[in-house]
Amino acid sequence: MKFFVDSADLEQITLLNDIGLADGVTTNPSIIAKSGRDFKQVIAEICAIVDGPVSAEVIATEAEKMIAEGRELRKIANNICVKLPLTMDGLKACKTLSSEEIPTNVTLCFSANQALLAAKCGATFISPFIGRLDDITQDGIELIEDIRMIYDNYGFETEILAASIRNVNHIKECALVGADVITSPPDVIRKLAEHPLTEQGLAGFMKDWATTGQSIL
Ligand code: G3P
Repeated sequence: MKFFVDSADLEQITLLNDIGLADGVTTNPSIIAKSGRDFKQVIAEICAIVDGPVSAEVIATEAEKMIAEGRELRKIANNICVKLPLTMDGLKACKTLSSEEIPTNVTLCFSANQALLAAKCGATFISPFIGRLDDITQDGIELIEDIRMIYDNYGFETEILAASIRNVNHIKECALVGADVITSPPDVIRKLAEHPLTEQGLAGFMKDWATTGQSIL
């Protein structure tokens, strides 16, 4: 399973990339606004850090303008992936950009039928938002399972990019049901390494080692 970092924080992206935990990056207009940075500039800097796909989202809501924005964003770097909303206009833009071999990430997916449409329109990635479904008492992981089954039934190559990850259990459950990719805030990725028994065990080892008076180096 690939790990994408859902952030425009260059420090956090670099840190995770250096240890092989940033197979790509996703952004959205809210993340860019939070960064306080110039959109194209910050995206270019992220593209220079990671080798994998960097999702940059269009702002237009009408297909022709989305296509123009997508082509413009793609000029920033060759690892740009154009993020498009799951609307009929977004699907039309997806079809056109995909036919030009521009990678696409269709976002704001909340149903299996929406995911089916994105695959039929040639999306590289589909982004189901699991946390936002959980927020309204629907089951986000069940949606990932449904999309996995539909894509496997028909051999669609669109990758399932589980988004709106809120906690470490989301990541485990995504791995169990076969999401191709998760995109997560950096702090949730770091939390995957944490366990109280690991901390407790290490403290015990260090205490006992100190009594030996030895050193390795
Ligand atoms: O990738 C989409 C993601 O950023 C949405 O997350 O937490 O705003 O639902 P959230």
